[in-house]
Amino acid sequence: MRVKNKTVVVTGGGSGIGRALCQAFAAEGARGVVVSDIDGDRAAQVAADIGGLAVAADVAVEADVQRLVAEARAAYGAIDLFCCNAGIATEGSFEVPDDQWHRIMQVNFMAHVYAARAVLPEMLERGDGGFLVTSSAAGLLTQIGSAPYAVTKHAAVAFAEWLSVTHGDQGLEVFCLCPQGVRTAMMAQFEDESAIGDYLAKVAVEPEDVAAAVIEAMAEGHFLVLPHPEVADFFQRKANDYDRWLGGMRRFQQSLGKG
Ligand SMILES: NC(=O)c1ccc[n+]([C@@H]2O[C@H](COP(=O)([O-])OP(=O)(O)OC[C@H]3O[C@@H](n4cnc5c(N)ncnc54)[C@H](O)[C@@H]3O)[C@@H](O)[C@H]2O)c1
Repeated sequence: MRVKNKTVVVTGGGSGIGRALCQAFAAEGARGVVVSDIDGDRAAQVAADIGGLAVAADVAVEADVQRLVAEARAAYGAIDLFCCNAGIATEGSFEVPDDQWHRIMQVNFMAHVYAARAVLPEMLERGDGGFLVTSSAAGLLTQIGSAPYAVTKHAAVAFAEWLSVTHGDQGLEVFCLCPQGVRTAMMAQFEDESAIGDYLAKVAVEPEDVAAAVIEAMAEGHFLVLPHPEVADFFQRKANDYDRWLGGMRRFQQSLGKG
């Protein structure tokens, strides 16, 4: 898939990876880039920079996602690529309070279901469309120090995988973005709050590198987008010997001082 002359929607587009995606899609010659964010001012700033349309929306609210899709269609016609990129991080274990579990489930997972309901019927009818889910390496491996982040990012991978298996032969192209550290506001939060923060910062890439990896993977038709190629090795090690991988992760956690 190439975005030249296409209409693209990006959630969480006001900052970090989402902003870099909007800028890269505009640079690739997208016909319309819809920059959506819960923070309307940030979305407006990015949209102004690239000549796109800003739509303030909370992806955890299905009515907001439907309104976002309606406004995007009203401005540019059919949506060719929808990027479910907005996400949040919550540190902690099973002790994290229910309201925080619910919020992260809504933003990191149910938002993708809402987006699918809003855009996929039309794409499947046309027999053409793209759907990108920003998960994380935590969705393939785990997130040391954060059960809610690990669980919701696994759910995001599972949903993207399911969509690809179920609708990949009907003209739908599904992409699943799984970076490790990326230098964004979220990265700064990991550095402040999480034992894994220093490691993530060490291996971190720039949001622009992630956007370039997305453009390349889409052009080559790869489901999995891995801006950190070593994640493919870690994922393979997990599949090859799960028990050994778990032991290795425990040792890694201890080395971070959270064992
Ligand atoms: N930065 C990393 O190291 C990293 C690594 C792997 C995956 N990710 C994922 O990348 C995605 C983007 O994160 P980022 O690093 O660019 O962070 P970021 O904080 O810079 O950007 C996230 C954007 O999402 C918006 N947002 C938050 N909740 C929202 C909601 N309910 N509705 C709409 N917008 C909302 C925020 O306002 C913000 O503009 C997230 O899904 C994150 O989990 C980030």
